[in-house]
Amino acid sequence: MLPSAVAAWIAGSGSLLVLFLLLHLAGVSLALLQPPAFEAYATALHQSPWLLPAEGLLSAALLGHLGLTAWKLVANRQAGNRSALVSRRADRWGAWAARSLPLSAAILLLFLAVHLAQLRWPRPPAGLELARLLEVLAQPWWALLYGAAGLAAGLHLLHGAEAAHRSLGLLNPGNGRAIRMAGRAVALLLGSGFLLVALLLNGRAVGWLA
Ligand code: HEM
Repeated sequence: MLPSAVAAWIAGSGSLLVLFLLLHLAGVSLALLQPPAFEAYATALHQSPWLLPAEGLLSAALLGHLGLTAWKLVANRQAGNRSALVSRRADRWGAWAARSLPLSAAILLLFLAVHLAQLRWPRPPAGLELARLLEVLAQPWWALLYGAAGLAAGLHLLHGAEAAHRSLGLLNPGNGRAIRMAGRAVALLLGSGFLLVALLLNGRAVGWLA
């Protein structure tokens, strides 16, 4: 595959994952704000006929994103390119996030393995989704890992938003600033959103939050 096509697929699959994370944050926020609505939402989701295809699409996006990134890394190394060599970026936050990509990716992968083993395989029985979530997040280390994963997702996106637009050929001098600002806003929303939800649910679970 051409390197530009690989970059475009990495960008496309990454965008799908960001969309999932935005919906996921909205869904899990209900656990904090409207517990009965969260339970009803989880039950409706599990009975939905499109859940299985959506999970298939999400898994394909995740595996594609990881596999193609690995392919690109190997190709870059063979060509003698290192991410540390040059940065085309004028913004310090974006350059820092780009350098931290291996760290944010490692935290996200570790988190996902733990997270899916806790809440997806097996899935909690109907009506017990919130109870299972609170049982997990009552453990301070798990709450910290969930919070760290939120921050890692935000950091990953701080680089990814601009990079994805560049790879898809959508970044130009006229819209660069708007894309950077929008990327930062979504990164901040996801990073602080998941961190807050994890910490406040820990408070609910152990009693320091009413
Ligand atoms: C405060 C942080 C988070 C909470 C409380 C949370 C909660 C949950 C819950 C309750 C489920 C089970 C949904 C179900 O039963 O269908 C779930 C599934 C899942 N979560 Fe999270 N999550 C958090 C953060 C994240 C993050 C940061 C990611 C990605 C990096 C993520 C990725 C997933 C995935 C891939 C699934 C499986 C979706 C499916 O197959 O239906 N979660 N999460």
